[in-house]
Amino acid sequence: MQDLTQRVWSATSPHHVGDLAWGRSHTESADWPIAMWEADGRVGAWAWANLPDDLRLQVDPAHPHLVGEALAWFDDLAEGGLREINPLDTQTDLVETLLAHGYRPRDDAPFFAYHRHDLTALPDPVLPAGFTARPVRGEADLAQRVAVHQAAWNSTRVTPESYRAVMTTWPYRADLDWVIESPDGDFAANCLIWLDPANRVGLIEPVGTAPAHRRRGLSRAVCLAALHALKAAGATQAIVYPRGDAAYPVPRVLYRGLGFRPYARTRTYAKQD
Ligand SMILES: CC(C)(COP(=O)(O)OP(=O)(O)OC[C@H]1O[C@@H](n2cnc3c(N)ncnc32)[C@H](O)[C@@H]1OP(=O)(O)O)[C@@H](O)C(=O)NCCC(=O)NCCS
Repeated sequence: MQDLTQRVWSATSPHHVGDLAWGRSHTESADWPIAMWEADGRVGAWAWANLPDDLRLQVDPAHPHLVGEALAWFDDLAEGGLREINPLDTQTDLVETLLAHGYRPRDDAPFFAYHRHDLTALPDPVLPAGFTARPVRGEADLAQRVAVHQAAWNSTRVTPESYRAVMTTWPYRADLDWVIESPDGDFAANCLIWLDPANRVGLIEPVGTAPAHRRRGLSRAVCLAALHALKAAGATQAIVYPRGDAAYPVPRVLYRGLGFRPYARTRTYAKQD
């Protein structure tokens, strides 16, 4: 899956090797059904179903007929129930195929706004007194790294086991997994970046600040520290996919303030027999 995703990555790709690695490492998504189709002796398409109704899909543009095979596979899984797919609005060929298969746009659905930053001009991070930014130190930081994620997201979806899986999944690099340590020694904020070295593009996924430390510039600072490390690792651009709809505006404010600009958005296409 990552091989295809890396091979065909472009500004019209809904996926990056990093979001596959992040998404596959957590318990519930690890069990979602996956299918792959071969073309010319390698993976030409993959489909990843979040049952009951959501499909993630990547097809090599050189083999567009595989979209139909993936949709048929999803039809069988869904057994006539609601099916939804979220292509980028720039994936015009895929959108046409979805319309031809009976999918229709749902303009009331939440969406993700894809943003990019060319990394040429990056300000230095500024931290409140006593706070320090640094990359994680592997297993020694595991418990704290999970704790700051759980606090930021008010969720226990990410566990020590699942984060250990993240840390051993390509292309994870500890030098691109940044935290801010508070004067008390706890982790206050985090930013994980995934580098696709072939395309020299890093994906930010995820960022968080623990509620007790919010509105002090910590997410901005931890992102800048991680972006500097990304640039030093050879990337020329970074991307991030915050929510674009009005219901969840704060991450968008953060990334635009860092210099990210929108280039595409997801749109939900739905079908029900
Ligand atoms: C989004 C989040 C990371 C912001 O963390 P933070 O440390 O409080 O953010 P900062 O203090 O660095 O502020 C960054 C920008 O967001 C703005 N901002 C932060 N919280 C805000 C709020 N509640 N309302 C409006 N603007 C807000 C700040 O004004 C600042 O804007 P500027 O760059 O234009 O000055 C934090 O709220 C969080 O962890 N949320 C849950 C996880 C999440 O949604 N992560 C991002 C997913 S892509």
